[in-house]
Amino acid sequence: MSGSKEDSRRASSDWRDFFWNPRTHELLGRTGTSWGLVLLFYLIFYLFLAGLFALTMYILLLTLDDYKPTWQDQLDTPGMMIRPKGDQLEIRFSVSDPESWNGFVQNLNSFLTSYNDSHQVQLNDACSPDQYFIQEDSGEVRNNPKRSCQFNRTMLGDCSGMEDRFYGYSKAQPCILIKLNRVIGMLPGKDGQSPYVTCGAKKEDREKMGPLIYFPVNATFNLMYYPYYGNKAQVNYTQPLVAVKFLNASLNTDINVECKVTSNTLMAGSERDKFAGRVSFKLRIDGQEDQ
Ligand SMILES: *[C@@H]1O[C@H](CO)[C@@H](O)[C@H](O)[C@H]1NC(C)=O
Ligand SMILES: *[C@@H]1O[C@H](CO)[C@@H](O)[C@H](O)[C@H]1NC(C)=O
Ligand SMILES: *[C@@H]1O[C@H](CO)[C@@H](O)[C@H](O)[C@H]1NC(C)=O
Ligand SMILES: *[C@@H]1O[C@H](CO)[C@@H](O)[C@H](O)[C@H]1NC(C)=O
Ligand SMILES: *[C@@H]1O[C@H](CO)[C@@H](O)[C@H](O)[C@H]1NC(C)=O
Repeated sequence: MSGSKEDSRRASSDWRDFFWNPRTHELLGRTGTSWGLVLLFYLIFYLFLAGLFALTMYILLLTLDDYKPTWQDQLDTPGMMIRPKGDQLEIRFSVSDPESWNGFVQNLNSFLTSYNDSHQVQLNDACSPDQYFIQEDSGEVRNNPKRSCQFNRTMLGDCSGMEDRFYGYSKAQPCILIKLNRVIGMLPGKDGQSPYVTCGAKKEDREKMGPLIYFPVNATFNLMYYPYYGNKAQVNYTQPLVAVKFLNASLNTDINVECKVTSNTLMAGSERDKFAGRVSFKLRIDGQEDQ
């Protein structure tokens, strides 16, 4: 009993000695000099790490180009998107219910604001069509900012929202705008042949889809809008569009439409990337026949 008390007293004094040993002047088993050396070692070690990190970062930043992404998905063919963009690419409305299509009209209105002819004249050049608008940098000398070509809203004809403010939605002849995702440096055609859009439906839906009309003529993304040099270099870039208008789509039924781009340089969407160069959406127009 007393032995164990003795043990515990000794243990506690050992512990106190370990924490601060007045005889050897050791704190936690090390002398002041030893502690100093340990701290000095870690200080130098961490300074070294921080320096290494800063140096790596600096070298990495030096290799980045403000105007070009260093890494960009090397897709053979970029994706496409539609406007208006409904939930899950579904354009569904009832002709007689303006509430059901007003959102689409607003969406198109705001999307097309920068395409107004008056605006385009201020921003961009009238370029010569069917050829690339090349503006390369000469060596280290930047040729920035780069100019862009006009895409006038009136080029969208019946789908411009100028004559028909409702883009056909009030007449069961809706317009859908199609754009090709931007890829810096992409050259989407050769021999003056611009890529063009075609829309279709699966066999059972083909009848239901009815005839289509495209704007601009030939449904092309003209070559003059390429190559794209990036948002920072080409500040006023206006993305070319193709509008498709459904002239006599069946009412009260779902129509699965697929639009794709055809070009003599871009590959057709492979199995690996089903979204390359194509976009699918569901169209459903509710209403009564002959209105
Ligand atoms: C663009 O044109 C439309 C139709 O003419 C007009 O309603 C709209 O206010 C114009 N927007 C701008 C920014 O000029
Ligand atoms: C765009 O519209 C403006 C004004 O109407 C016109 O001066 C210009 O030539 C048009 N540009 C193109 C490429 O059609
Ligand atoms: C961009 O548009 C503005 C007008 O809004 C014009 O002053 C400027 O020159 C344009 N810049 C380029 C590079 O086209
Ligand atoms: C449309 O295509 C036809 C036949 O390929 C061609 O003759 C015509 O010049 C094209 N029109 C435009 C405006 O590019
Ligand atoms: C529209 O399509 C229907 C069949 O869905 C057809 O009966 C009708 O004649 C077509 N109208 C026009 C103007 O083509």
